[in-house]
Amino acid sequence: SMLEAAHENDIDLEGKSFKAIFEVAKRACEGSLACSTCHVIVMDVEHYNKLEDPTDEENDMLDLAFGLTETSRLGCQVI
Ligand code: FES
Repeated sequence: SMLEAAHENDIDLEGKSFKAIFEVAKRACEGSLACSTCHVIVMDVEHYNKLEDPTDEENDMLDLAFGLTETSRLGCQVI
């Protein structure tokens, strides 16, 4: 997932088209959709639009995320 890639690459989400900000660079629930600590904001709307739509479960968790934006996703769910 993007989250794993970011961790492996020291949160350097290389590439201009996929700049994201990690609100908190750790995942409290290990990607099981039980937290929102992996909240990311996809800065490039075009890239955001290419991602698969979030599931209802992801949206429910996103609603709890601090600083939710139009292009927020949970990093652990974005492949
Ligand atoms: Fe908990 Fe992504 S790590 S929802």
